[in-house]
Amino acid sequence: LVELIQGRMESIGVLMTCSMHSYIEEELAKRFNLFKLCNYSSLSAFAQAHADSVRALVCNTEVGVDANTIDSFPKLEIVATYSVGFDNIDIKKCREKGIPVTNTPNVLTDCVADLAIALALALLCRISHIHRSLSYGLRKYSDFQFTTKLSGKAVGIVGLGRIGSGIAKRALGFGCPVSYHSRSEKPETGYKYYHNILDLAANSEILVVACALTEETRHIVNRQVIDALGPKGIVINIGRGPHIDEPELVSALIEGRLAGAGLDVFENEPDVPQQLLGLENVVLTPHVGSDTVETCMAMADLVIANLEACFLGKPLLTPVI
Ligand code: DGY
Repeated sequence: LVELIQGRMESIGVLMTCSMHSYIEEELAKRFNLFKLCNYSSLSAFAQAHADSVRALVCNTEVGVDANTIDSFPKLEIVATYSVGFDNIDIKKCREKGIPVTNTPNVLTDCVADLAIALALALLCRISHIHRSLSYGLRKYSDFQFTTKLSGKAVGIVGLGRIGSGIAKRALGFGCPVSYHSRSEKPETGYKYYHNILDLAANSEILVVACALTEETRHIVNRQVIDALGPKGIVINIGRGPHIDEPELVSALIEGRLAGAGLDVFENEPDVPQQLLGLENVVLTPHVGSDTVETCMAMADLVIANLEACFLGKPLLTPVI
Protein backbone atom coordinates (compact mmCIF):
# COMPACT_ATOMS: atom_id res chain seq x y z
CA LEU A 1 0.00 0.00 0.00
CA VAL A 2 2.83 2.38 0.92
CA GLU A 3 4.41 1.74 -2.46
CA LEU A 4 1.11 2.25 -4.20
CA ILE A 5 0.58 5.58 -2.44
CA GLN A 6 4.18 6.55 -3.10
CA GLY A 7 3.82 5.72 -6.79
CA ARG A 8 0.65 7.78 -7.02
CA MET A 9 2.29 10.76 -5.30
CA GLU A 10 5.34 10.66 -7.55
CA SER A 11 3.20 11.39 -10.58
CA ILE A 12 1.52 14.41 -8.98
CA GLY A 13 2.81 17.68 -10.38
CA VAL A 14 3.78 20.25 -7.74
CA LEU A 15 4.96 23.68 -8.84
CA MET A 16 7.18 25.85 -6.66
CA THR A 17 6.67 29.49 -7.62
CA CYS A 18 10.34 30.36 -6.97
CA SER A 19 13.54 28.95 -5.49
CA MET A 20 13.27 28.06 -1.81
CA HIS A 21 15.53 26.49 0.78
CA SER A 22 17.26 23.33 -0.40
CA TYR A 23 15.55 21.16 2.24
CA ILE A 24 12.01 21.83 1.01
CA GLU A 25 13.10 21.46 -2.61
CA GLU A 26 14.78 18.12 -1.93
CA GLU A 27 11.94 16.76 0.19
CA LEU A 28 9.30 17.78 -2.36
CA ALA A 29 11.36 16.28 -5.19
CA LYS A 30 11.60 12.95 -3.32
CA ARG A 31 7.82 12.68 -3.15
CA PHE A 32 6.27 14.52 -6.09
CA ASN A 33 6.87 15.41 -9.70
CA LEU A 34 8.42 18.76 -8.81
CA PHE A 35 8.52 21.75 -11.13
CA LYS A 36 10.19 25.00 -10.19
CA LEU A 37 9.77 28.44 -11.72
CA CYS A 38 13.09 30.22 -11.37
CA ASN A 39 11.77 33.27 -13.10
CA TYR A 40 8.17 34.20 -12.50
CA SER A 41 7.96 36.05 -15.81
CA SER A 42 8.17 32.67 -17.54
CA LEU A 43 4.85 31.61 -15.96
CA SER A 44 2.81 31.78 -19.14
CA ALA A 45 5.34 29.77 -21.17
CA PHE A 46 5.51 27.20 -18.37
CA ALA A 47 1.72 27.04 -18.10
CA GLN A 48 1.39 26.46 -21.84
CA ALA A 49 3.62 23.41 -21.59
CA HIS A 50 2.44 22.01 -18.23
CA ALA A 51 -0.99 23.46 -17.45
CA ASP A 52 -2.63 20.08 -16.89
CA SER A 53 0.23 18.53 -14.92
CA VAL A 54 0.22 20.95 -11.98
CA ARG A 55 -2.08 19.90 -9.15
CA ALA A 56 -0.44 21.84 -6.32
CA LEU A 57 1.29 25.19 -5.95
CA VAL A 58 3.88 25.80 -3.25
CA CYS A 59 4.64 29.50 -2.80
CA ASN A 60 6.25 31.80 -0.28
CA THR A 61 6.18 35.48 0.59
CA GLU A 62 8.65 36.23 -2.20
CA VAL A 63 6.48 35.05 -5.08
CA GLY A 64 2.89 34.52 -4.11
CA VAL A 65 -0.07 33.23 -6.05
CA ASP A 66 -2.33 35.66 -7.87
CA ALA A 67 -5.57 35.11 -9.80
CA ASN A 68 -3.73 34.72 -13.10
CA THR A 69 -1.53 31.94 -11.67
CA ILE A 70 -4.55 30.15 -10.24
CA ASP A 71 -6.37 30.36 -13.58
CA SER A 72 -3.31 29.05 -15.42
CA PHE A 73 -3.64 25.58 -13.86
CA PRO A 74 -7.10 24.04 -14.36
CA LYS A 75 -6.21 20.87 -12.40
CA LEU A 76 -5.10 22.78 -9.30
CA GLU A 77 -6.21 21.12 -6.05
CA ILE A 78 -4.28 23.00 -3.36
CA VAL A 79 -2.14 26.08 -2.72
CA ALA A 80 0.34 25.58 0.14
CA THR A 81 2.32 28.58 1.30
CA TYR A 82 5.67 28.12 2.97
CA SER A 83 4.86 30.93 5.42
CA VAL A 84 2.38 31.72 8.15
CA GLY A 85 1.20 34.90 6.44
CA PHE A 86 -1.03 34.37 3.42
CA ASP A 87 -1.40 37.93 2.16
CA ASN A 88 0.71 36.64 -0.77
CA ILE A 89 -2.22 34.58 -2.09
CA ASP A 90 -5.44 35.67 -3.80
CA ILE A 91 -7.65 34.02 -1.19
CA LYS A 92 -10.85 35.33 -2.75
CA LYS A 93 -10.02 33.63 -6.02
CA CYS A 94 -9.12 30.35 -4.27
CA ARG A 95 -12.38 30.49 -2.36
CA GLU A 96 -14.37 31.10 -5.55
CA LYS A 97 -12.73 28.12 -7.21
CA GLY A 98 -12.98 25.90 -4.12
CA ILE A 99 -9.21 25.45 -3.92
CA PRO A 100 -7.96 24.95 -0.35
CA VAL A 101 -5.05 27.00 0.96
CA THR A 102 -2.69 25.97 3.76
CA ASN A 103 0.01 27.87 5.67
CA THR A 104 2.69 27.02 8.27
CA PRO A 105 1.61 28.42 11.64
CA ASN A 106 3.06 27.51 15.07
CA VAL A 107 6.38 26.08 13.89
CA LEU A 108 7.85 29.53 13.23
CA THR A 109 6.43 31.39 16.23
CA ASP A 110 9.54 31.04 18.38
CA CYS A 111 12.11 32.13 15.87
CA VAL A 112 10.14 35.15 14.65
CA ALA A 113 9.54 36.22 18.27
CA ASP A 114 13.27 35.68 18.94
CA LEU A 115 14.14 37.94 16.02
CA ALA A 116 11.87 40.73 17.30
CA ILE A 117 13.77 40.72 20.59
CA ALA A 118 17.11 40.38 18.77
CA LEU A 119 16.34 43.48 16.68
CA ALA A 120 15.35 45.44 19.79
CA LEU A 121 18.52 44.36 21.62
CA ALA A 122 20.76 45.03 18.63
CA LEU A 123 19.28 48.49 18.24
CA LEU A 124 19.36 49.48 21.90
CA CYS A 125 22.82 48.00 22.53
CA ARG A 126 23.98 49.45 19.16
CA ILE A 127 25.62 46.17 18.32
CA SER A 128 26.13 46.70 14.57
CA HIS A 129 27.43 50.23 15.09
CA ILE A 130 29.90 49.18 17.79
CA HIS A 131 30.97 46.15 15.76
CA ARG A 132 31.66 48.42 12.76
CA SER A 133 33.53 50.88 15.00
CA LEU A 134 35.73 48.06 16.26
CA SER A 135 36.65 47.11 12.75
CA TYR A 136 37.65 50.75 12.12
CA GLY A 137 40.05 50.47 15.04
CA LEU A 138 38.07 52.14 17.82
CA ARG A 139 38.57 50.25 21.05
CA LYS A 140 37.68 52.41 24.03
CA TYR A 141 34.23 52.59 25.51
CA SER A 142 34.34 56.39 25.38
CA ASP A 143 34.64 56.14 21.60
CA PHE A 144 31.07 54.88 21.46
CA GLN A 145 27.87 56.69 22.10
CA PHE A 146 25.94 55.41 25.08
CA THR A 147 23.70 52.45 24.61
CA THR A 148 20.36 51.92 26.34
CA LYS A 149 18.92 48.80 27.94
CA LEU A 150 15.94 46.72 26.98
CA SER A 151 15.19 45.61 30.52
CA GLY A 152 12.20 47.40 31.98
CA LYS A 153 11.21 49.29 28.81
CA ALA A 154 7.48 49.55 28.08
CA VAL A 155 6.74 47.24 25.16
CA GLY A 156 3.60 47.79 23.08
CA ILE A 157 2.64 45.01 20.71
CA VAL A 158 0.43 45.51 17.68
CA GLY A 159 -1.31 42.19 17.13
CA LEU A 160 -1.43 39.63 19.93
CA GLY A 161 -1.64 36.46 17.88
CA ARG A 162 0.78 33.55 18.22
CA ILE A 163 3.87 35.61 17.34
CA GLY A 164 2.76 38.69 19.28
CA SER A 165 2.14 36.51 22.34
CA GLY A 166 5.60 34.93 21.91
CA ILE A 167 7.14 38.41 21.89
CA ALA A 168 5.12 39.39 24.97
CA LYS A 169 6.39 36.32 26.85
CA ARG A 170 9.98 37.15 25.98
CA ALA A 171 9.55 40.84 26.86
CA LEU A 172 8.21 39.85 30.28
CA GLY A 173 11.41 37.88 30.79
CA PHE A 174 13.29 41.18 30.40
CA GLY A 175 11.09 42.79 33.04
CA CYS A 176 9.25 44.88 30.43
CA PRO A 177 5.65 45.89 31.10
CA VAL A 178 3.65 44.65 28.11
CA SER A 179 0.57 46.20 26.54
CA TYR A 180 -1.07 45.60 23.18
CA HIS A 181 -3.50 46.70 20.53
CA SER A 182 -5.48 44.23 18.47
CA ARG A 183 -8.89 43.86 16.85
CA SER A 184 -10.39 42.66 20.11
CA GLU A 185 -9.36 42.51 23.75
CA LYS A 186 -7.92 39.26 25.15
CA PRO A 187 -8.59 39.67 28.89
CA GLU A 188 -7.21 36.19 29.67
CA THR A 189 -3.67 37.37 28.82
CA GLY A 190 -3.55 39.89 31.65
CA TYR A 191 -1.71 42.45 29.45
CA LYS A 192 -3.03 46.00 29.23
CA TYR A 193 -5.21 46.48 26.16
CA TYR A 194 -5.50 49.66 24.12
CA HIS A 195 -8.41 49.86 21.75
CA ASN A 196 -6.64 52.70 19.94
CA ILE A 197 -3.14 52.23 18.55
CA LEU A 198 -2.35 55.91 19.25
CA ASP A 199 -2.87 55.31 22.96
CA LEU A 200 -0.69 52.19 22.78
CA ALA A 201 2.09 54.16 21.07
CA ALA A 202 1.83 57.04 23.55
CA ASN A 203 2.31 54.57 26.41
CA SER A 204 5.12 52.50 24.86
CA GLU A 205 8.86 52.92 24.48
CA ILE A 206 9.16 50.05 22.03
CA LEU A 207 6.37 49.44 19.53
CA VAL A 208 6.48 45.99 17.96
CA VAL A 209 4.39 45.23 14.88
CA ALA A 210 3.32 41.59 14.78
CA CYS A 211 -0.13 41.55 13.19
CA ALA A 212 -1.28 40.07 9.89
CA LEU A 213 -1.43 42.32 6.84
CA THR A 214 -4.99 43.21 5.88
CA GLU A 215 -6.59 46.31 4.40
CA GLU A 216 -7.21 47.51 8.00
CA THR A 217 -3.60 47.07 9.11
CA ARG A 218 -1.93 48.56 5.99
CA HIS A 219 -0.01 51.66 7.20
CA ILE A 220 -1.27 51.07 10.72
CA VAL A 221 1.97 52.75 11.81
CA ASN A 222 1.60 56.20 10.27
CA ARG A 223 2.90 59.66 11.12
CA GLN A 224 0.45 60.10 14.00
CA VAL A 225 1.48 56.80 15.59
CA ILE A 226 5.17 57.64 15.14
CA ASP A 227 4.66 61.04 16.75
CA ALA A 228 2.68 59.48 19.62
CA LEU A 229 5.62 57.12 20.26
CA GLY A 230 7.91 60.14 20.33
CA PRO A 231 11.63 60.87 19.89
CA LYS A 232 12.75 58.28 22.44
CA GLY A 233 10.65 55.52 20.95
CA ILE A 234 11.70 52.68 18.72
CA VAL A 235 9.71 50.63 16.22
CA ILE A 236 10.31 46.95 15.52
CA ASN A 237 8.58 45.36 12.53
CA ILE A 238 8.61 41.60 12.00
CA GLY A 239 5.15 41.61 10.37
CA ARG A 240 4.91 42.96 6.85
CA GLY A 241 6.53 46.03 5.30
CA PRO A 242 3.25 47.73 4.34
CA HIS A 243 2.24 47.87 8.01
CA ILE A 244 4.42 50.98 8.22
CA ASP A 245 4.22 54.13 6.12
CA GLU A 246 7.88 53.80 5.13
CA PRO A 247 8.55 57.36 3.86
CA GLU A 248 7.08 58.70 7.14
CA LEU A 249 9.29 56.34 9.12
CA VAL A 250 12.40 57.37 7.20
CA SER A 251 11.64 61.10 7.74
CA ALA A 252 11.03 60.56 11.46
CA LEU A 253 14.33 58.69 11.82
CA ILE A 254 16.26 61.36 9.92
CA GLU A 255 14.61 64.25 11.77
CA GLY A 256 15.07 62.66 15.21
CA ARG A 257 11.32 62.35 15.81
CA LEU A 258 11.93 58.63 16.45
CA ALA A 259 14.98 57.10 18.14
CA GLY A 260 15.34 54.03 15.97
CA ALA A 261 13.85 51.14 14.03
CA GLY A 262 14.57 47.42 13.78
CA LEU A 263 13.05 46.11 10.57
CA ASP A 264 12.87 42.63 9.08
CA VAL A 265 10.32 43.61 6.43
CA PHE A 266 9.98 46.43 3.89
CA GLU A 267 7.23 47.95 1.77
CA ASN A 268 8.63 46.90 -1.60
CA GLU A 269 10.65 43.76 -0.96
CA PRO A 270 13.24 42.76 -1.90
CA ASP A 271 14.11 46.47 -2.13
CA VAL A 272 15.36 48.17 1.01
CA PRO A 273 15.15 51.97 0.75
CA GLN A 274 18.59 53.45 0.20
CA GLN A 275 17.89 56.13 2.81
CA LEU A 276 17.34 53.48 5.49
CA LEU A 277 20.61 51.76 4.60
CA GLY A 278 22.46 55.01 5.25
CA LEU A 279 21.11 55.52 8.79
CA GLU A 280 22.88 54.60 12.02
CA ASN A 281 19.74 54.34 14.14
CA VAL A 282 18.40 51.29 12.34
CA VAL A 283 19.04 47.55 12.33
CA LEU A 284 17.83 45.87 9.15
CA THR A 285 17.41 42.23 8.13
CA PRO A 286 15.98 41.03 4.79
CA HIS A 287 12.80 39.17 5.84
CA VAL A 288 14.61 36.36 7.62
CA GLY A 289 12.22 35.97 10.56
CA SER A 290 11.50 32.31 9.93
CA ASP A 291 14.83 31.39 8.38
CA THR A 292 16.41 29.35 11.16
CA VAL A 293 17.44 25.87 10.03
CA GLU A 294 15.09 24.20 12.50
CA THR A 295 12.14 26.29 11.44
CA CYS A 296 12.73 25.94 7.71
CA MET A 297 12.72 22.17 8.10
CA ALA A 298 9.60 22.18 10.25
CA MET A 299 7.81 24.49 7.80
CA ALA A 300 8.79 22.26 4.88
CA ASP A 301 7.53 19.16 6.69
CA LEU A 302 4.22 20.91 7.33
CA VAL A 303 3.85 21.96 3.68
CA ILE A 304 4.48 18.35 2.62
CA ALA A 305 2.13 16.92 5.24
CA ASN A 306 -0.62 19.22 3.94
CA LEU A 307 0.01 18.18 0.32
CA GLU A 308 -0.02 14.50 1.24
CA ALA A 309 -3.22 14.91 3.25
CA CYS A 310 -4.83 16.68 0.31
CA PHE A 311 -3.93 13.96 -2.18
CA LEU A 312 -4.89 11.15 0.20
CA GLY A 313 -8.27 12.80 0.81
CA LYS A 314 -7.50 13.35 4.49
CA PRO A 315 -8.20 16.53 6.53
CA LEU A 316 -5.62 19.26 5.97
CA LEU A 317 -3.38 19.98 8.94
CA THR A 318 -3.30 23.76 8.77
CA PRO A 319 -5.97 25.04 6.40
CA VAL A 320 -6.45 28.77 5.92
CA ILE A 321 -9.62 28.19 3.88
C1 DGY B 1 5.77 34.23 7.30
O1 DGY B 1 5.84 33.01 7.50
O2 DGY B 1 4.74 34.81 7.00
C2 DGY B 1 7.05 34.95 7.37
O3 DGY B 1 6.95 36.28 7.10
C3 DGY B 1 7.94 34.21 6.41
O4 DGY B 1 8.94 34.81 5.94
